[in-house]
Parts: sequence; structure tokens; C-alpha cells
Amino acid sequence: RSVWAVVPAAGRGTRFGGDVPKQYLEVAGRSVLEHTLRALLSHPDVAGAMVALAPDDSRWPGWTSLCGKPVLRCDGGGERADSVLAALRALPPSVPGDALVLVHDAARPNLAASDVGRLIDAAMESPDGAILAAPVRDTLKRADGAGCIDATVPREALWRALTPQAFRRDALVHALESARAVGVAMTDEAMAIERAGGRPVLVEGREDNLKVTTPADLRLAEFLLSRRSP
Ligand code: CTP
Ligand code: MG
Repeated sequence: RSVWAVVPAAGRGTRFGGDVPKQYLEVAGRSVLEHTLRALLSHPDVAGAMVALAPDDSRWPGWTSLCGKPVLRCDGGGERADSVLAALRALPPSVPGDALVLVHDAARPNLAASDVGRLIDAAMESPDGAILAAPVRDTLKRADGAGCIDATVPREALWRALTPQAFRRDALVHALESARAVGVAMTDEAMAIERAGGRPVLVEGREDNLKVTTPADLRLAEFLLSRRSP
């Protein structure tokens, strides 16, 4: 088994604030991005990583390999989906069109190897790929226009989409291109595949696969990552 990881890291971290984009903040002795790349590349099935960076990124440390595996970079785009598409197109020609790719946010540094393995297992068996996801635990309220409760939304069938998300390379490129052509805003890859008629499998992932969005998330990441074995 050999899969490539595609890592969108071209965001500006506007919700986090500050001068340094969140993927370059230091946490538990390494940048968020380095934790993320090591978590992916330390899995035996992951052959290499393609990282999409902002074209004006001045903080990229110039890695060409980590964990003994190739790390390549390319320019990302204005939206997350543009960065993912750019990275998919920049993969080495040796990566076949029907190869699985794992798309994983740079801002999710606490990825467990066991989740990567179970995701790849499911995606290998699925015609439309698979994503890590977590069942919704909270009670969900729909608001009316005045900020009052309009309804309680049953949560039984609801999941929070996580990353990585695993798809066949060409299928994902085509789905992203066609969604972009009609201007559909996409916050994950599965949305593009769903739009193309696919039904990706939900693989229950760990709740501690957090995305760093705010400073409070970074404190939680510090707690989680400093407990991991080096
Ligand atoms: N990303 C990207 N290209 C973009 C926008 C986002 O590669 N044009 C990446 C981010 O770097 C991040 C991942 O997509 O790793 C998830 O995005 P998000 O958490 O929204 O990060 P930012 O867009 O940087 O944050 P914000 O939305 O608060 O500005
Ligand atoms: Mg964003």
C-alpha cells in the first residue's frame, strides 16, 4: 500500500489572529505543521507529502524530507479547495491516477497513526473514498432570526467531518474542478465527491484530532502533543 498525503497549509489563520499563521506557531517543541507532517509520514503506508503554501510564505523551513520520506511543496490558492487542487496537480507523475491520496489540514497536528490506518483500510474497500469523522455529542439547536431556539435538531445521524479524507486522485481532481466551475463553496473534499454523486464512507476517528482554529485550541494541542511519545 502506498498513498500520498496532500496538506493544505496556505491559509492565513484570520480567526486565530496574530502575525504568524497558525501552522507555523510552536507547540510542544515543534511547529504545528511539523507535527502534522510527522504524524502523516510516520505511518508506513504514507509515501510522501505535498504541501500547498501561500505564494508569499517566508516561513517554510525548506524541508525536502521528513521521517525519511519526500516532502514537496507547491503554491496554494485563494480558498482551501484551490490549495488542495493545486497540490493534487503538483503530485509527482509517478503517482497513478487511481492511487489513494489523503487530504489533511496542516492545522490538525494531533493525528493518530491508528486513525490513518483505519481510514486507508476503509478507503481501499470503498468506491467513493472515506473520511474520518466524529459523532455529534452535543444537543443541537436551530436558531430563528432573533437568536431564539426555533427547533432541536436530532443528532443521531449527524457527524463532524475531520481530516484526513481519502479519495482516488483523479476522482477528487475531477470532482473539485467541476464544483469550482459552478462556484460551489466547499469546506471539505467529501462535499465535492458528494456533489458528483459519490457516497464516501464515514470512519469514526478520535475526538482529539482537533483543528487549531483559535488560541484556546492551541493550548489544548500543547496539552495533547506534549503527552505523545517522541
Ligand atoms: N488553507 C489553505 N489555503 C487556503 C485556506 C486554507 O491551504 N486558501 C488551509 C489552512 O492552512 C489549514 C486548512 O486549510 O491548514 C484548514 O483551513 P482553516 O482552518 O480555515 O485555516 P485558515 O484558513 O488559515 O484560518 P482562517 O479561516 O481562520 O483564516
Ligand atoms: Mg479558513
